Amino acid sequence: MMTRRIADILKSGQPDESVKVQGWVRTKRELKEFAFVEVNDGSSMANLQVVLNPDLADYGTIIKQLNTGASVEVEGVLVESPAKGQRIELKASSAKVFGEADPETYPLQKKRHSFEFLRDIGHLRSRTNTFGAVFRVRNACATAIHKFFQERDFLWIHAPIITASDCEGAGEMFTVTGFNLDKVPRTEKQEIDYTKDFFGRPAYLTVSGQLEAEIMAMAFSNVYTFGPTFRAENSNTSRHLAEFWMVEPEMAFCDLQGDMDLAEEFLKYIFNYVLENCPEDMEFFNQRIDKSVLETADNIINNQFERLTYTDAIKLLEKADKKFEFPVSWGLDLQSEHERYLAEEKFKKPVIVTDYPAKIKAFYMRLNDDEQTVRAMDILAPKIGEIIGGSQREERLDVLEKRIETLGIDAETIWWYLDLRRFGTVPHAGFGLGFERLVQFMTGMANIRDVIPFPRAPLTVEF
Ligand code: 4AD
Ligand code: MG
Repeated sequence: MMTRRIADILKSGQPDESVKVQGWVRTKRELKEFAFVEVNDGSSMANLQVVLNPDLADYGTIIKQLNTGASVEVEGVLVESPAKGQRIELKASSAKVFGEADPETYPLQKKRHSFEFLRDIGHLRSRTNTFGAVFRVRNACATAIHKFFQERDFLWIHAPIITASDCEGAGEMFTVTGFNLDKVPRTEKQEIDYTKDFFGRPAYLTVSGQLEAEIMAMAFSNVYTFGPTFRAENSNTSRHLAEFWMVEPEMAFCDLQGDMDLAEEFLKYIFNYVLENCPEDMEFFNQRIDKSVLETADNIINNQFERLTYTDAIKLLEKADKKFEFPVSWGLDLQSEHERYLAEEKFKKPVIVTDYPAKIKAFYMRLNDDEQTVRAMDILAPKIGEIIGGSQREERLDVLEKRIETLGIDAETIWWYLDLRRFGTVPHAGFGLGFERLVQFMTGMANIRDVIPFPRAPLTVEF
């Protein structure tokens, strides 16, 4: 008999149907006449209730083995459930235990565990209700992202993970080397001799696939990347990871307006998709994690995002009757508290801030006519702060060369990026969505480490 997923059985299983299920025991209840076991296979929040009768072969042994955490296969017949809250249950005709879980040492008990505790058992936490819901929703977000771009004829491109260039210019890169660190070759001047390293020059884990996406957009018009990116910033916050996934669309023949329009449509699409495809999980988050999850989703889908310039945002922040920890002044970057004030308190919806000072943004952003600001846009979300960062790119060779020189970037290392401006340059734009911040925003999970299966952060690399 084919194994059936529990989600499918709960949704469309009919009385008298024979089924086989495989999963892990969540709870066991032994009565005099029979025993109930709740089985979960990860396909849904809800468990399938299995009823075991003493006429089952090896009943005594099996019941002893069926503790929380044990893996089991059950065959039997579906029957209408007399119990409240479930339509159907499985009357077992045979049961087989694959692996037991000792109730004395199995760390997941029926009670609620803190997320901190669950991070320490990262190899088991996916078997809980919350993490089951998180990773199903994460999967739905990823599906929605591909659907959105594929429906619009964007090409999915695979940006490299190892790179020689620092796209964001923030110097937050992890080095990739083939050297034995005990015997690093030195030059006569005692500097590290990278010519002897694997790539013959310094190499790093990428902080962004944007530069490669720009190359591909100059051939395919509309492309996107969706892959892991890395930042070696030592931030121990609830919104930073050292390894996170980023989605980066890049569009040729597109300006900042088109970039913002796409980003807004994109976020609305993902929220819609997840509400339609994970209603139970979203209901769970709304009840158990953050009471405003469904309201937030509704707000995203049905309201236009607020759009304002950085200069206007600074004016609003200066006028705000709120004490900020960090200073507010034209030319300084917005801190997370400022971003959250704008999105959460001032506008109560996502806010797109544009035209930031050139001094605080990366080299590739298009310079405005005022020569002070660039065509940047950040989307700020309530509770999260920056969720998307994007811009129209500098497509004019002379302006870009000047900018690179001012910033002290070695033009030699990105000669190919400059070539794109020499041969068939076009106005183009794109953005980067932090995938984990999206999943946080969607689920209301407070800590970014709880929306990625295996978080990488300072001193965190166990699982
Ligand atoms: O704003 P960022 O640095 O932009 C870029 O990397 C551009 N190259 C994107 C582009 O235009 N193609 O990063 C983009 C997004 C941020 O808005 C944030 O959501 C997320 O990536 N992000 C992080 N997420 C988790 N942990 C970190 N350490 C992050 N740093 C950035
Ligand atoms: Mg940014």
